[in-house]
Amino acid sequence: MPTETVYGLAADAANDRAVAEIYALKGRPSFNPLIAHMADIAMAKRYVHWNAQAQLLAEHYWPGALTLVLPLRADAAISPLATDGGQTLAVRVPDHPITKGLIAALGKPIVAPSANRSGRISPTRAEHVGEEFAEHGEKGPWIVDGGPCQMGLESTVLDITGNAPVLLRAGGVTVASLEKLLGTSVARYHAFIPEGAKDAALRSPGMLSRHYAPDAKLRLQATVLEKGEALLAFGPALPGASHVFNLSPSGDMLEAAANLFTGLRTLDASANAIAVMPIPNTGIGEAINDRLARAAVR
Ligand code: TXA
Ligand code: MG
Repeated sequence: MPTETVYGLAADAANDRAVAEIYALKGRPSFNPLIAHMADIAMAKRYVHWNAQAQLLAEHYWPGALTLVLPLRADAAISPLATDGGQTLAVRVPDHPITKGLIAALGKPIVAPSANRSGRISPTRAEHVGEEFAEHGEKGPWIVDGGPCQMGLESTVLDITGNAPVLLRAGGVTVASLEKLLGTSVARYHAFIPEGAKDAALRSPGMLSRHYAPDAKLRLQATVLEKGEALLAFGPALPGASHVFNLSPSGDMLEAAANLFTGLRTLDASANAIAVMPIPNTGIGEAINDRLARAAVR
């Protein structure tokens, strides 16, 4: 299903078999829990223990690209596979008419990770999802084509189970915006976890270091082009590349975010090495650079 951030591989959150199929199809480690997509605050409250911070954040950002990690209610009808048997649940209310319509029709939450094979580039168009699961043919997932995702980057994941909010994943909602609303600073959970590291201890397993990875080798902060490299440009492009994808010729950060995963996919199909021009680390740039850094890990 499309969402405003990226396409998600959707299942009824209460259906063990459907949730198991998500993990199988993605090749996702079982220790990496899923986000439950809710219709509204009222639905979320039936699944997690709500608090004042959650209320403030949800009223401001929902529907939208903010995922809140909260304590799971003991009576929540969520497949334990979706939380890996954990005590917390990640919840968000998506801002997309199709996603909202699906949740409303089902009458309960939909769990959905990004609709890519585990560790690969997230899909922001229906065609991308088709590419990811092409090998399954008729047995692959059904794809609801909602056109290109408006935001193009995943939601921000914020843990508010403790006294101080902790950023687990940079995303569509910026840290500066969160800090302004909350009136406190937001700590960033250490951003890189070595690939071999085991799971249960990790606060957000999805932060494995190698992720969003193209087959091509990525070289970041490129100010000159090396031989044979394709170019992922931002602003006025470096000269000399045979394949260029410009995230935003005018240097617009939101446009760059929306184009990021399409740019990586496009260049990956035509080159073995990609040079990436510098992108400022402010605002949504933090999330863009987070994805690029992980995509560059070999
Ligand atoms: O924008 C998005 O968030 C998209 C769309 C489809 O909603 N979904 C998405 O899901 O990006 P996924 O599974 O690719 O990433 C979810 C992230 C992972 O890093 C995962 O480890 C983390 O959220 N996460 C999920 N449940 C968690 C929990 N209970 N505690 C901590 N982290 C959690
Ligand atoms: Mg993902």
